Amino acid sequence: MDNRKTRILTGITTSGTPHLGNYVGAIRPAIAASRADDAESFYFLADLHSLIKAQDPVRTQRSTLEIAASWLACGLDPERVWFYRQSDIPEISELTWYLTCVAGKGILNRAHAYKAAVDKNRAEGEDDDAGITAGLFMYPVLMGADILIFNADQVPVGRDQIQHIEMARDFGQRFNHIYGREYFALPEALIDEEVATLSGLDGRKMSKSYNNTIPLFAPRDQLKKLVFSMLTDSRAPGEPKDTEGSPLFQLYKVFASAGETAAFARAYADGIGWGDAKQQVFEIVDREIAPLRERYEALMARPQDIEMILRDGAKRLRERYAMPFIAELRAAVGLRDLSDANAMAAADDEGSPVETPVPTFKQYREADGKFYFKLMEGDRLLLTSIGFDSPRDAGRRVAAMKEGALEGNADFRLADGVGSDEVNAALARFVAAQLAHE
Ligand code: TRP
Repeated sequence: MDNRKTRILTGITTSGTPHLGNYVGAIRPAIAASRADDAESFYFLADLHSLIKAQDPVRTQRSTLEIAASWLACGLDPERVWFYRQSDIPEISELTWYLTCVAGKGILNRAHAYKAAVDKNRAEGEDDDAGITAGLFMYPVLMGADILIFNADQVPVGRDQIQHIEMARDFGQRFNHIYGREYFALPEALIDEEVATLSGLDGRKMSKSYNNTIPLFAPRDQLKKLVFSMLTDSRAPGEPKDTEGSPLFQLYKVFASAGETAAFARAYADGIGWGDAKQQVFEIVDREIAPLRERYEALMARPQDIEMILRDGAKRLRERYAMPFIAELRAAVGLRDLSDANAMAAADDEGSPVETPVPTFKQYREADGKFYFKLMEGDRLLLTSIGFDSPRDAGRRVAAMKEGALEGNADFRLADGVGSDEVNAALARFVAAQLAHE
């Protein structure tokens, strides 16, 4: 790849209204990162994804507006980062189809969100796929297109999203292999272990699903009311209080300097009354949020400005990257000008520049009576399985692997000096060879 800047891409789910937990855990760190000079950053509103869950058009529109206004109010600068709406980049939808046609269905079967929905159906005695849309099933492919269309190198995500990034790598790798060139850079998940999670009003993790949140831009008096409704214990003023496990203290800490936090801890030890403590927490939160709230309200009053910012971002981004790249991909798959015979011949020459052998699976039995398999690339050993009790068990695992991806299963061991990316590439070649025979 050329020596371009590292590309960092962040997808923002457009559902609900952001709360303080989102701000502290995601928005604030992401905006701080967006100020780095050594990266090219992409921030987009994943509104196509939102349709999988939310099918009320008025709420979809409202939520997209609120989330865009929130990120802008918190300091995202559309002059220095790419800020856009997924649905404004039709090339993402087009790429979704090209990836759909190389993605292994078996890999999607194993996506956590889909599997959880199937498990729930089974537990309730329903059909496996009852009430599950193809949209939920295809979620990872659309997400792969979000990432691959801009050849993002790094994708900051929570742990629950790591599997999606692995899938994006897999789809990209398969496409590269089938069409014989490194069209796509393979993205990496960037996991920030540091980010704070906040407790909500009731002491559990602040989350929309627990209904215990403090909206990020609650008006001042409502913010105060909510802070004053936070869970405390029954210790009276004058009794020393524990900072450990106190949701109030935790909230104070993420908005305060180290010195302020130390002073507040002393106040706890000295037996500050809960009313006074709440007043201090409210003030420290409001100190940071008040100016953002003011900007947020000004932005919300001018939705046409936000619309313009988003459209402008998408327009520039399409011209710069998405349109030329999709044209290249369209040609790569063979959706071409029929009169252009040169392209036909030239592209044929380009195909499969290096001939790496198609890998093979070998099943065998060891002296311990167990059944094993190994994956070979020519004479080279890539991995060996653990011992299975029956040839059927071993065969089943082989069949799963033949669908494409390795995944974090513990029932095999990579051979010395072999990386999982290499095995994934070999599996992609295996799948491509199967497809070519069909
Ligand atoms: N799935 C992500 C989430 O739930 C949102 C998202 C959609 C995303 N497309 C993306 C994140 C691409 C990173 C890259 O949080």
